[in-house]
Amino acid sequence: MAASGVKDPIRVVITGAAGQIAYSLIHQISSGDVFGKDQPIILHLLDITPMLGVLSGLVMEINDCSFPLIKEVVTTDSEQTAFTDVDVALFVGAMPRKEGMERKDLLTANVKIFKSQGLALEKFAKKAVKVLVVGNPANTNCFILAHYAQSIPRENFSCLTRLDHNRAKAQIASRLKVSPDTVKNVIIWGNHSSTQFPDVRSAKVTVDGAETAVFEAIKDDAWLKGDFVSTVQKRGAAVIAARKLSSAMSAAKAICDHMRDWWHGTKDNEWVSMGVISDGSYGIEKGLVFSYPVQIKNGSYSVVQGLAMDDWAQDLIEKTQKELVEEKNDAVKATSSE
Ligand code: NAD
Ligand code: LMR
Repeated sequence: MAASGVKDPIRVVITGAAGQIAYSLIHQISSGDVFGKDQPIILHLLDITPMLGVLSGLVMEINDCSFPLIKEVVTTDSEQTAFTDVDVALFVGAMPRKEGMERKDLLTANVKIFKSQGLALEKFAKKAVKVLVVGNPANTNCFILAHYAQSIPRENFSCLTRLDHNRAKAQIASRLKVSPDTVKNVIIWGNHSSTQFPDVRSAKVTVDGAETAVFEAIKDDAWLKGDFVSTVQKRGAAVIAARKLSSAMSAAKAICDHMRDWWHGTKDNEWVSMGVISDGSYGIEKGLVFSYPVQIKNGSYSVVQGLAMDDWAQDLIEKTQKELVEEKNDAVKATSSE
């Protein structure tokens, strides 16, 4: 905070800044929706060299929005310039999947980007930088990024599963014909992929002023353990099939939800889903980037402990863990053979 009482600007880097997610994201960040209406920002926008022209057009648009919080916009194709002194790093840039592909099909191409950017983050970013990986396969890209940026604390790395979390809330709300904000404590466990486990066994919904367990309110276990789970697992593919492009507006909204909660904290007795580096909680291999329910206070998250498991849940959690271990092994092979 400067002597005037005005906050010092924070530096926020967005990679893949010329892409479709960034186009929605930049507006929300620049409006103060994420870091606060009193938090000035210096934006660092990174993309590959052929996209520098697009970035110059984006800067014209940012200027034309007249955002009072934006103090400077740096556009670059240099990782050094992009990551120098950043407080927040949003790793969006990567190849998106096309119809018929699984997210892990992107692995070989995309993990190499994350090795190079991990080395640059290590060298140039602030050690307190908060990192969110969005580019797919998000969990495994985050694993590689963290692996090559060892001096940054492990708890500063995360990947995006908030979109899946929001999708789960929306499905429950639509089934009960209530607003999504009346649904709380859904959980996405594991990988941001079709093996993820959207879990509403502890979720609650407020209907007509009374808070009830989602399983009680819906009274259809077959749907909650069947179509609900597969709809959320396959939602990304459904959007691609319909739009011929991967989700962008909803992804940008989820990025903002994730970062806002990480910056400002979660409400008491509520949790959100975040892909984080596992500390072994719930028997998950230590070091894997795994989505857990987390609560956040003073900028730090903690994994919600002690939630009950049954055989059904345990099987789904093991399946998504197995996929992450396989992805991790493939990614380590792809990045160490260079
Ligand atoms: P897009 O193709 O519109 O944009 C990607 C941008 O990244 C492009 O401008 C491209 O030039 C840039 N890029 C490529 N390599 C780069 C590099 N080495 N450095 C910097 N920039 C680079 O894609 P999009 O729709 O914005 O999606 C971006 C990524 O986010 C994809 O991997 C997509 O699958 C993923 N995604 C994740 C989630 C999630 O919930 N985790 C949700 C939606 C999309
Ligand atoms: C999504 O979940 O919409 C994104 O991860 C894009 C994709 O490949 O599914």
